[in-house]
Amino acid sequence: MENEKLLPQVIIIGGGLTGLRAALEAAKSGVKAFVFSKVHPLRSHSVAAQGGVNVALGNNAEGREDSWELHTRDTIKGGDFLNDQDATALMCKEGIERIIEIEHWGCPFSRTEEGRIAQRPFGGGTFPRTAYAADRTGHALLNTLYEQCIRLKSEGLITFHDEWHVVSVIASDAICYGVIAYNLKTREVRAVISNAVIIATGGAGRIYRNSTNALINTGMGMSLGYLAGAPLKDMEFIQFHPTTLYGSNILISEGSRGEGGFLINKYGKRYLAEYPDSAKAMEMAPRDIIARNTVREIQKGNGFDNSYVLLDLRHLGGEKIEERLPGIRELSIKFAGIDPIENPIPVQPGQHYTMGGIDVNINTETNIKGLYAAGEAACVSVHGANRLGGNSLLETIVFGAIAGRNASEYAKGDYHLNESIVKEHEEKETERLSKILSSNGEKTQWDIWNALQATVMEKVGIFREKNKLKEALENIRGLINTYKDIGLTDKGRSMNMELYWAVELHGSLLISEALVMGALSREESRGSHFREDFPQRDDENFLKHTIVSYNNGSPALGYKDVDTSIMKPEERKY
Ligand code: FUM
Repeated sequence: MENEKLLPQVIIIGGGLTGLRAALEAAKSGVKAFVFSKVHPLRSHSVAAQGGVNVALGNNAEGREDSWELHTRDTIKGGDFLNDQDATALMCKEGIERIIEIEHWGCPFSRTEEGRIAQRPFGGGTFPRTAYAADRTGHALLNTLYEQCIRLKSEGLITFHDEWHVVSVIASDAICYGVIAYNLKTREVRAVISNAVIIATGGAGRIYRNSTNALINTGMGMSLGYLAGAPLKDMEFIQFHPTTLYGSNILISEGSRGEGGFLINKYGKRYLAEYPDSAKAMEMAPRDIIARNTVREIQKGNGFDNSYVLLDLRHLGGEKIEERLPGIRELSIKFAGIDPIENPIPVQPGQHYTMGGIDVNINTETNIKGLYAAGEAACVSVHGANRLGGNSLLETIVFGAIAGRNASEYAKGDYHLNESIVKEHEEKETERLSKILSSNGEKTQWDIWNALQATVMEKVGIFREKNKLKEALENIRGLINTYKDIGLTDKGRSMNMELYWAVELHGSLLISEALVMGALSREESRGSHFREDFPQRDDENFLKHTIVSYNNGSPALGYKDVDTSIMKPEERKY
């Protein structure tokens, strides 16, 4: 076992916005941060975020006063009242400070004529509250945080371990001792010990066939907590973004609609007007509503090729498109051969975000002492049953900072090294990796990946129903069994992607099982979870979080209360 600890220290798994913000906070607290990332931090999926970050600055509010309280209320309504409201309020309040801070660190936000941070409308918001850097906001935020981290790296406070694959969290009797990781280049396996670990690995989009997510977003990071004994919460809530590029499912930002873009059917009609829940807000209704109504429109035969509708930006004019949506234009030209200045963009709903994740409290603590989770990998839950566009970036920097702060305070406490537990985990993981690598089973993992993505896409998509969900659960459990018989053809040590994907697949299978368990048990429709057999929201029976615990391979379902201290559930009106 290699122990490179210099106490106190925090291990952060994930180099995206949440992980980097946590690292900065740890360093600020005088604690050394070790960031483990499968890819270079600037290749994290955060870099792909486009349209912006919600924050109640009131810069484009035309004389009206925005406030974090109004932001909180919009977020709770958008989340269909499943949000833990105290956590939502915390995010909306602290978010203001976090955005000003990152502005002062040099984030190149777009500006109003007076030089303030520019803000555009986003779905479900009563104000133009989404601060942006053209349509490359994630890129701007991530590079700003990385610059700050590099400064602290030179002071020895932050260390990056890029292209290290964390395969396990070391925990026993609900106490965390560190992680096991291997170097993708050399396949050296290492136990890295620390009494504080933060999981900041992002979402699980790639369990779906059609997703805006980067290939690295398999949900395996969630499975690290799950396997260590931290339950998963509200996994059934999966967001489909209404506008992803037909053919590749690359994100076409909500900013396009925020700037005035229209969704039209094959008759050139703005079809959202035909549906009661989107007739008022139209293209600015929350995403769950627009995604459902778009699928309904296509199913009626009013789309194109039974697959897509059009996003029309032409009336915005070339100048505005070039200034506010240059990335959308570039993506449309490169990946669909369409210049949105001249032609509408073919779009369809695609998986975009995982509202559920590792169950944490408002302090980002799991039920395991020393294990924290934040960002999309976690479920605090600030988004409830449906996230408003622009709130995920806010969550990353607010809860990244909170996790960094709390994990650091914990790390400063008494250190509890348990050599034998660490050694046992290291041996177990080394053996598991060797076994996968040397496996000569008949099945290939690619068949399992394909079957998993097809099952989840077709049976656990936007519209759900009991029989399909049962089939999905059966299929996934079958695939978990088949996984035991896979064979790898590449036996190489360095950059063995077959090994990498096989390890990821295990995590994806387990969290998919938890997702379907949650979806089956929730016999109501709320936010992104729409049950055709239970089309109404049922507050009496289901105003509660679902919880799935790994339970030594026999997953168990439970429930947890929702904090409703700010707003009582009420009719959803847009
Ligand atoms: O549409 C978008 O630009 C995505 C934003 C988000 O998911 O928050």
